[in-house]
Amino acid sequence: MNRSTPSGLKPVNRARFSILEMASRASTLLSAVGLGAFVVLAHFASASVFRSEVMAESGWQTFRAQYQIDYFGTDGQFVRAIQNGYNLVFHTHKYAPRFTRRGPADQVNSCSGCHTVEDLAYAFVNSDRFDPKVQKRVSFEERVQRCYIGSLDGFAPTIYDPAVRDIRLLARAVAHELHLTEGAMRKAR
Ligand code: HEC
Repeated sequence: MNRSTPSGLKPVNRARFSILEMASRASTLLSAVGLGAFVVLAHFASASVFRSEVMAESGWQTFRAQYQIDYFGTDGQFVRAIQNGYNLVFHTHKYAPRFTRRGPADQVNSCSGCHTVEDLAYAFVNSDRFDPKVQKRVSFEERVQRCYIGSLDGFAPTIYDPAVRDIRLLARAVAHELHLTEGAMRKAR
């Protein structure tokens, strides 16, 4: 009787079967290895894109203590966003290279070249106001976009980009620590 199990095959067919079987095992093994390699590669290659930790630049710990950023948690998403905001403000050319043509060699290559973090906090509580110069209401985000374009000789990120969003969070945290109310003005010094 002719069975379809390997033992029922003629010797030639049996040999062919085991070659086929080996080939299919090898290809299963290969796809498993390939899949594994992909996962490992994707993990390491995307580290800079989806990194949840933020590089600690000098001055961050001082800033963090001075403005009590830990009020918002010691290691939360929000604190990391503020830290990214800190990096953006003090090293714009390094953390937002897509949005500025300024480089390390330029004397002013970061927001901090022209603004302190407290300036940004005051700007935050005074934003969303009607600006007679442009005849419209200007949001904090739009002000930041304008500085990327005009003051840093670059391009405007969208308002959802961390390059804008995280600076807003930083300004908000500093305003919180200074107890600035809506519309607060700097005292004359
Ligand atoms: C070369 C100097 C310079 C740099 C660099 C610069 N700005 Fe400005 N920025 C200004 C000037 C000047 C104004 C005021 C413009 C006006 O009133 O029309 C301003 C205005 C602002 C305002 C509105 C509030 C205010 O103080 O008038 C915000 C917010 C702001 N900048 C954020 C930023 C951020 C964030 C960066 C970095 C991405 C940055 N700026 C980089 C010069 C600069």
